[in-house]
Amino acid sequence: MPPIHLTSPAANTVPAPSFSIYPSLRNQSVFVTGGGSGIGAAMVAAFAQQGARVAFVDVAEDASRALAQRLVDAGYAAPWWRKCDVRDIAALQAAVADAALELGDFSVLVNNVASDDRHTLESVTPDYYDQRMAINERPAFFAIQAVVPGMRRLGAGSIINLGSTGWQGKGAGYPCYAIAKSSVNGLTRGLAKTLGQDRIRINTVSPGWVMTERQIQLWLNAEGEEEIKRNQCLPDKLLPDDIARMVLFLASSDGAMCTAQEFKVDAGWA
Ligand SMILES: NC(=O)c1ccc[n+]([C@@H]2O[C@H](COP(=O)([O-])OP(=O)(O)OC[C@H]3O[C@@H](n4cnc5c(N)ncnc54)[C@H](O)[C@@H]3O)[C@@H](O)[C@H]2O)c1
Repeated sequence: MPPIHLTSPAANTVPAPSFSIYPSLRNQSVFVTGGGSGIGAAMVAAFAQQGARVAFVDVAEDASRALAQRLVDAGYAAPWWRKCDVRDIAALQAAVADAALELGDFSVLVNNVASDDRHTLESVTPDYYDQRMAINERPAFFAIQAVVPGMRRLGAGSIINLGSTGWQGKGAGYPCYAIAKSSVNGLTRGLAKTLGQDRIRINTVSPGWVMTERQIQLWLNAEGEEEIKRNQCLPDKLLPDDIARMVLFLASSDGAMCTAQEFKVDAGWA
């Protein structure tokens, strides 16, 4: 079947080659939060191409429906998806439970959902702060809580938390997002030992600046282009598929002895 790329290869100078196939991912059940667009959608598509059974949640109904249709049109199994605002933990955990009833216990969880809305130190109210955490921090913990019993039944699992290099490079303009994303490394390392006893692996994948539609529309300008040239070791722009490749590896049995780590996919950002 043809590989499907959700972002235009024209955004990069080198067209993305097909994904490697991991036999261990075939028929595995995979849950992705925020899988309707951006990097999440690339991961949903990449897992579908592996023959995995994919479920995702997202608030963006049109984008989610279009992604599901695109996969079906390309000849892949229809993903399970539900409109779900991850700020509602009960709804998120119900989605995990309902999807598992249809697809089987999840051996892979990708905690991807986030929102990098900009804000200033002065503008943040306690309620806004809590809302940022409710999207960018809290859902990962409670999604883990929901999938772990199933992973224990399976005897293994792989949890991949999307971190960020932004806060590590002192990125400005989104302090609450930075706080939440920095907590991802703590989540990974704080649970690795406990989960490892049941052969459940947990890792952070931290992207550099990835050219999603949202990033291109909202934040990429001439100054940003210069910043990429100046800071990256590699000349090509990062695409969602580049992140999906690392996530596939960690989800597969090829990553069997990797846990408690942070893997950066940032083209060597300074
Ligand atoms: N794009 C980048 O350059 C970049 C850089 C560093 C880290 N990351 C991380 O990678 C991950 C994916 O980033 P992205 O750029 O694709 O993000 P994005 O904002 O483009 O997509 C996030 C997805 O989550 C969904 N979503 C947002 N709020 C939601 C909510 N309340 N409930 C359910 N769904 C919701 C959105 O509809 C969207 O489909 C995030 O964890 C992000 O922090 C991205």
